[in-house]
Amino acid sequence: MKVLVTGAAGQLGWELMLKLLAADIAVIGIDRGELDFARPEHVAAGIADHRAEWVVNCGAYTQVDRAEEEPELAFRINRDSARAVAEGVKSYGGRLLQVSTDFIFDGGQSHPYREEDAANPLGVYGQSKWEGEQGVRAVLPEATILRTAWVYGEHGHNFVKTMLRLAAERDELTVVDDQIGTPAWTGDIADAILALIKGDHPGTWHFTNEGVASWYDFAQEIVIMARRLGYPIKARYVRPIPSADFPTPAARPAYSVLSKQKIRAMLGYDIPHWRQSLTAMLKALAAAGNK
Ligand SMILES: NC(=O)c1ccc[n+]([C@@H]2O[C@H](COP(=O)([O-])OP(=O)(O)OC[C@H]3O[C@@H](n4cnc5c(N)ncnc54)[C@H](OP(=O)(O)O)[C@@H]3O)[C@@H](O)[C@H]2O)c1
Repeated sequence: MKVLVTGAAGQLGWELMLKLLAADIAVIGIDRGELDFARPEHVAAGIADHRAEWVVNCGAYTQVDRAEEEPELAFRINRDSARAVAEGVKSYGGRLLQVSTDFIFDGGQSHPYREEDAANPLGVYGQSKWEGEQGVRAVLPEATILRTAWVYGEHGHNFVKTMLRLAAERDELTVVDDQIGTPAWTGDIADAILALIKGDHPGTWHFTNEGVASWYDFAQEIVIMARRLGYPIKARYVRPIPSADFPTPAARPAYSVLSKQKIRAMLGYDIPHWRQSLTAMLKALAAAGNK
């Protein structure tokens, strides 16, 4: 099997490349330098050139707040190029796994979002990803769509790394406690992607780690665990604040826990709790000399 990973320099793409290589699967990684998703008119041909049995589309415009200022670019990358990737894959009869997001939901629910729940994005990023999903389904009804949330990994920029940096510099951190979701470690998402493509599972799937957290819960655990693992932590205190005290250009869902019921049954193993995977990530980061 040959797999083409887009967004290979990003958090998830990078980790997925490592997993595929470790599983002895032939893999090609491409990023903006090889194929620019800001120019969707070139994307279908650029994807088809590789004739990979599977394409995993991790390439995306992921800057949630900045998307409010440059919606045209976000839509070109997340909607038009996602559809163009599907067209490229369809042209030679390949298979596609498109990565999507919890931000397609409005957060009005108080129980975990299932795959069939109604989308209602609150901002440009979520809307562009939702329209990307719809374009992919229209072109390739048998595509696999994997929605995840609160992604972090050893490679790239994310909340965990930001908290580690701030906790090393400041006595106190303030973090919002009224947005509820579940973190997802790239190592675990990549395992789920591997299972989805090896088993050839079409349709929409949700995956994060197990458990529920606010960003405040997540930050507190990062600081506690990092201190325990010998990271240089100065912060003594993480203080919860309401989102109203930390205004951002893009509105975010207040609740975006994704139901894992469907994917749990397919995986056939226990998905790690987010605290367990956070510890694994912090240990891996430390082992790589990045404390
Ligand atoms: N991060 C999260 O919390 C989160 C949550 C839910 C779902 N997701 C989804 O998960 C997937 C992977 O996200 P991630 O966290 O790995 O994001 P990431 O680290 O920002 O990686 C995105 C990748 O897409 C590439 N990209 C951006 N603009 C491009 C362009 N014009 N042409 C080609 N490639 C371009 C980036 O390249 P550059 O480095 O050159 O910009 C980067 O390699 C995305 O579909 C995202 O929507 C992420």
